[in-house]
Amino acid sequence: KNIALVAGGYSGEYVISVQSAETIQKNLDSSKYEVYKIIVTREGWRHTGADGAVYEIDKNDFSLTIGGNKIKFDAVFIGIHGTPGEDGRLQGYFEMLDIPYTSCGMVTSALTFNKSYCNKVVAAFDVVNVSKSAHIFRDQPHDPGAILQELRLPVFVKPAEGGSSIGMSKVKTAEELPAAIEKAFKEDSQVLIEEFIKGRELTIGLYRANGVLNVLPITEVVSSKEFFDYEAKYTPGVSNEITPAPVSADITALVQQTASTLYNKLNCKGIARIDFIYEEATGKLYFLEANTMPGQSENSLVPQQVRAAGKTLQAFYGEVLEECMK
Ligand code: DAL
Ligand code: MG
Repeated sequence: KNIALVAGGYSGEYVISVQSAETIQKNLDSSKYEVYKIIVTREGWRHTGADGAVYEIDKNDFSLTIGGNKIKFDAVFIGIHGTPGEDGRLQGYFEMLDIPYTSCGMVTSALTFNKSYCNKVVAAFDVVNVSKSAHIFRDQPHDPGAILQELRLPVFVKPAEGGSSIGMSKVKTAEELPAAIEKAFKEDSQVLIEEFIKGRELTIGLYRANGVLNVLPITEVVSSKEFFDYEAKYTPGVSNEITPAPVSADITALVQQTASTLYNKLNCKGIARIDFIYEEATGKLYFLEANTMPGQSENSLVPQQVRAAGKTLQAFYGEVLEECMK
């Protein structure tokens, strides 16, 4: 089967995406799949052949023409974090072309990619706690003072649509808030400001295969930085990621059940990773975010969880790919 592995993208997560695609490509069974990596940038969507020649995708039907042969794809493995691979844009495009792809659909991708709207929908499900927050827009008036009358410090300030903690700050004093908001507005025209929950950061990968929802082991992230920021995420040794998380059977069950419910209620497909904070003082579980294209670099959380589950990455990516072609 011909498989397109799309990587790159238009956001600051380009580099991470290329690393994720490397892991995916290395672990897709080459006896079953002819994998064509397509790097998507604003300049073009391009495949580089083994001989170094560069081929441009025909966007009318997402095909490649190599040596006079037109290559069409049986499925697309989405390997892009951020726009346009995680936010519903490519999903809508592939749906229009009737080409199966490995991720959540267009609506789920777009919803979960906007942390602020996703919080509102998840809160309405009434299955997990969601921290109190404000959602502000660059082109509408917003008053940091008024926001802090509603929210208790410290707060997290995040671009509503982003990833890998780019543009994000933890704010402890009222004086720091305006600069943090400006920083987040450099990444996105919408900003989410949410109350910080002190607790243990737990994250869990899930994927549907053979019609069954599989729940991976939980990872606890212990960051030596103020929060699990870009550096902590991608510099080995800056954070400690423990899989399976050293938490009680009760907490494990709570996280697994809540994550499964959210995966189903959000109508996720393929691989998703849901991040939570467990507040020990109250025993409450808080939803942080749902990632519908979680990092797949060799050291990323989901590959760690797959290995901890005793599964090979080859079996894992194979199951995810087969599922989307059913
Ligand atoms: N946005 C990064 C890649 C993640 O969620 O893993
Ligand atoms: Mg994320």
